[in-house]
Amino acid sequence: MPEHKIPYLNLHHVNSKLLGPFQELTAQVFQNSNYINGPFCAGFERNFAAYSGTAYCSGVSNGLDALVLSLKALGIGVGDEVIVPAHTYIATWLAVTHVGATIVPVDCELDTYTIDTSLIEEKITANTKCIIAVHLYGQACDMGAIMVIAQRHNLYVVEDNAQAHGAEFKGQKTGSFGHINGTSFYPTKNLGALGDAGAITTNDAALYNKVQHLKNYGAKVKNEHAIIGANNRLDELQAAFLNLKLPLLTAWNDERIGLANQYNSMLSGIEGVILPATNPLCKHVYHIYIIRVDNRDALQQHLAAKGIETLMHYPTPVYRQQAYAHVNIERGTYPNADTVAETCLSLPLYPGLSTADVEYIAGVIKEFTA
Ligand SMILES: Cc1ncc(COP(=O)(O)O)c(C=O)c1O
Repeated sequence: MPEHKIPYLNLHHVNSKLLGPFQELTAQVFQNSNYINGPFCAGFERNFAAYSGTAYCSGVSNGLDALVLSLKALGIGVGDEVIVPAHTYIATWLAVTHVGATIVPVDCELDTYTIDTSLIEEKITANTKCIIAVHLYGQACDMGAIMVIAQRHNLYVVEDNAQAHGAEFKGQKTGSFGHINGTSFYPTKNLGALGDAGAITTNDAALYNKVQHLKNYGAKVKNEHAIIGANNRLDELQAAFLNLKLPLLTAWNDERIGLANQYNSMLSGIEGVILPATNPLCKHVYHIYIIRVDNRDALQQHLAAKGIETLMHYPTPVYRQQAYAHVNIERGTYPNADTVAETCLSLPLYPGLSTADVEYIAGVIKEFTA
């Protein structure tokens, strides 16, 4: 048995400290008996809009629904093409598929792992309607280049901000650049609920109102259903928990950044280990701390033998998932996405991880590569 036991993620660190307030909030929601679209939802929406620097926020059921609702609000559907990064979590692609639009993937950069903006324009056709900008692993993509391209070709921009709460591009928060933006508060995210939750953020009143109706059975007022909607509402209890956690997000992100800096300095200069690159225009909030090594599987096994749990984000590019076999993309079409999938390894990083833990993990990696 290894002496150390370091899980990939330990949510208990942040959530256990809040048990008392969580219980108090649960009692309040219980007392209010206003379980759907209640005051905690309204309060969180106000606070998250202010945090994001947008005029509006609409709480929704999860991150995938946030992206689907964003595309629906923009009127994107069958016959439209949407540019997505080849390297992302499958939810980005699924949102496009669920509205019936066509996915147009673009490969990622090999240093930041975000979409390679120099490859976007060659994919634009008369049917292109939108670019989905994914701020992967906690780092903003080049929003300057994306907004210029979108303007030049009259395209919508939707940010997928699921992995980057608090990240910035040129001092502006992610989730505030696009026409409408989706995020997830899945429990492992930088701001995580205690169940499924998500939100859209926008400065556009019409798009906000459309989402408000779409997520609530298409009803503008009770019993009047103007459009075909669904039930994609944010749960009142999750909104209460998120509202409690939101003021703590900056300190948790700072802790993540500190731990990432420690990894960077302890792992720098090791031959064969590629560290995550930070675009100097970005504030990276390290949702995931990823290294790349050629013998990734052997390193993962070595770390496991030493009690260190690691994950891969993601071991199979979306275009090679069985779910997307029907799009018939030949293997090798997105070489950088393939390379990341084959070499990536996500190291433990979360608020509450100790500097001694990082030292131990870095030491084990050094020992492996020596
Ligand atoms: C980049 C990205 N987009 C979208 C999602 C979807 O979020 P959810 O799991 O809340 O549906 C996730 C996370 O799961 C994600 O990492």
